[in-house]
Amino acid sequence: MPAPTPEALAHSQRLSALLRDEIAAAGGAISFERFMELALYAPGLGYYSAGARKFGAEGDFVTAPELSPLFSRCLAVQCAEVLAALAGGDILELGAGSGVLAADMLKELARLQQLPGRYLILEVSADLRERQRRTLAEQAPAMLAKVEWLERLPPAFSGVIVGNELLDALPISRFRRAPRGFDEFNVGVEGGRFVWCLRPAPEELRAALTTLETSLPQPLVEDYRSELCVRLPALLYSLADLLTRGALLLVDYGYTRQAYYHPDRYMGTLLCHYRQRAHDNPFLYPGLQDITAHVDFTAVAEAATAAGLELAGYATQAHFLLALGIAEQAGDWRGAREVKLLTLPEEMGERFKAMAFSKRLDLALRGFSLHDLSHSL
Ligand SMILES: C[S@@+](CC[C@H](N)C(=O)[O-])C[C@H]1O[C@@H](n2cnc3c(N)ncnc32)[C@H](O)[C@@H]1O
Repeated sequence: MPAPTPEALAHSQRLSALLRDEIAAAGGAISFERFMELALYAPGLGYYSAGARKFGAEGDFVTAPELSPLFSRCLAVQCAEVLAALAGGDILELGAGSGVLAADMLKELARLQQLPGRYLILEVSADLRERQRRTLAEQAPAMLAKVEWLERLPPAFSGVIVGNELLDALPISRFRRAPRGFDEFNVGVEGGRFVWCLRPAPEELRAALTTLETSLPQPLVEDYRSELCVRLPALLYSLADLLTRGALLLVDYGYTRQAYYHPDRYMGTLLCHYRQRAHDNPFLYPGLQDITAHVDFTAVAEAATAAGLELAGYATQAHFLLALGIAEQAGDWRGAREVKLLTLPEEMGERFKAMAFSKRLDLALRGFSLHDLSHSL
């Protein structure tokens, strides 16, 4: 791994000290979920809350909107279709990263003559909010007046809610199937270093894991390790609750539940990104690397439909973008290269999925017209 600069290392040490204090105050260990929450979002220190580069070629990882404006243009085509069906409405983007998705979508929506009333952004990171404002001012200055940053979810919303790689950034619980019941991975400290330690899963997690296991075709084998996002239902419930009319569109890497908890995936999906290297050590340079887990799309569909949304489609990113005309949008050779990166199975095409939900919207979404995999959930 490339060594961080002395400045970055000092930053990481400050966050590590905060984590060690919290572990000591909790009596020697905290859940991994809490560790991940602080590592990513501790005010002023967490990976997303503080000022590291993160996205793009010079950062730690590249997301689809960073890779090519073609991705954002296709999302704009899908949003335009919904906004037209609603005869107006807003867009709400959750976790807007560098702001490039917002800038490219707004430019395309202007070209399609289907601009939203407002483009709202909910971003938990103050540092990223600033970066988004700069990106929009540089790349889409004429659109800046449409954009509003929110401190919290609005009480009611009509239009399209968009989240690209939002769900993979939610803190997750790590568990292990014990001979009887489940253990939760906690984080302790030994000799100043973070170490894993196992504790019996607390009640809420144990109940969620028991429900999960009974929904699988076979029980999990002893010592099977994976993750579960306990926060997911509450987030989807809030989104379903505030959406009065329109659609929710989520794009992320993940699987159906059966594939996620397949016996072969016995070490789970926890993944860290540091300077374009993917690895599985979440204790490396806290605050300087991203920590993620894949998304259980069956859990997303269950939680959203239980909260009153209608499943509108589930497709691979490749099929979703092709249905929205990415091939026609591509144009020159550079475009063709970007289409390959976004759609080929060995690149982002199959690992990433798009999932949409609707409420009081009478529309078959174009993004799922090529190959809808909803039946596989
Ligand atoms: C992996 S990044 C993806 C950024 C961007 N969407 C992109 O595709 O480049 C995850 C983003 O979600 C934000 N985030 C995490 N939890 C959130 C929440 N509960 N509400 C809104 N944003 C959140 C992070 O601060 C970050 O901007």
